[in-house]
Amino acid sequence: MLNQLKQKAIKEIEQAKDLKNLEGIYRNYFGRQGELTNVLRSLKDLPAKERKEKGKLANQLKQDLEEAIKAKSKKFSVKGGQDKEWIDVTVPGILPSEGHLHPISLVQQQLEEIFQSMGFSVVDGPEIENEYYNFDALNIPKNHPARDLWDTFWLKDISLLLRTHTSPMQARYMEKHKPPLRIIVPGRCFRHEATDASHDVQFYQVEGLMVGQNVSLTNFKGVIEEFLKRFFGSGVKMRLRPSHFPFTEPSFEVDILKTQKAKGKTQNWLEIMGAGMVHPNVFKAVGYTPDKWQGFAFGVGLDRLAMLKYQIDDIRLFYSGDLRFLKQF
Ligand code: DAH
Repeated sequence: MLNQLKQKAIKEIEQAKDLKNLEGIYRNYFGRQGELTNVLRSLKDLPAKERKEKGKLANQLKQDLEEAIKAKSKKFSVKGGQDKEWIDVTVPGILPSEGHLHPISLVQQQLEEIFQSMGFSVVDGPEIENEYYNFDALNIPKNHPARDLWDTFWLKDISLLLRTHTSPMQARYMEKHKPPLRIIVPGRCFRHEATDASHDVQFYQVEGLMVGQNVSLTNFKGVIEEFLKRFFGSGVKMRLRPSHFPFTEPSFEVDILKTQKAKGKTQNWLEIMGAGMVHPNVFKAVGYTPDKWQGFAFGVGLDRLAMLKYQIDDIRLFYSGDLRFLKQF
């Protein structure tokens, strides 16, 4: 009887198709109600002599079957099995997702490169400013209605505020450096105003300042035209429109027209920066002699430039942290 069981089991083991199959066979013999388990269990009911003989045989059988199963299972294992390749080396890998620069940073970098190539240094200034640099030094005295142009976030200490523009760095820089000079100051600004598609409570500006003995409006036009050409491409047109800022005289607004091939499309001039010739009072505030020095200054919206370049229609997207937006750059 044990012999029959052995033959049956060996045959089944040999014919096993896969590991799962083999596991089933193991269970059939060695499981709680397995055929061999039952045989072993029944031994105790036999008379002593018979139990000894049969017990020996049954234990031998147990060993044989275990070995047969083990040997067979090796054929299905990683190295032994020919039918199962467990690593498919042709499957394309999973690319780790790398971060990248924010669109505003990309535009800032490009702008810095262009101005640096024209001899401008890049300098940095504080986001928390005081009233003096944000206003007074820029010819915007206390209680002057012009202050209303800048909706200001005041800090608890009444003379501190979040800078409303990068212009305060004109005064800070000139105080510490002798002319001639050429700088740009990229940085974040804040305004206490309602948000919409083109306004946010925070945004980026780049201030520009060039001072020398003969720096004129012609130099300004040359520098800005060169910048716009390199930033937007040669098709871009610019115009100066008279405006007013307390810290420049005369003052301008710079508009651009991005020419498009498509005919019949009406294109609007878009305002991108405020600018002008530095006001003598600003020179006085920093200890320069106004008769000796002259210069131009400008403030350009980085968000605005990025929106025009990438055709983004809502400034708030920049600060939303929405990956669906950010991944496009
Ligand atoms: N600071 C101005 C603003 O935020 C922009 C500006 C205008 C800057 C004229 C300048 C300038 O340097 O000359 O509205």
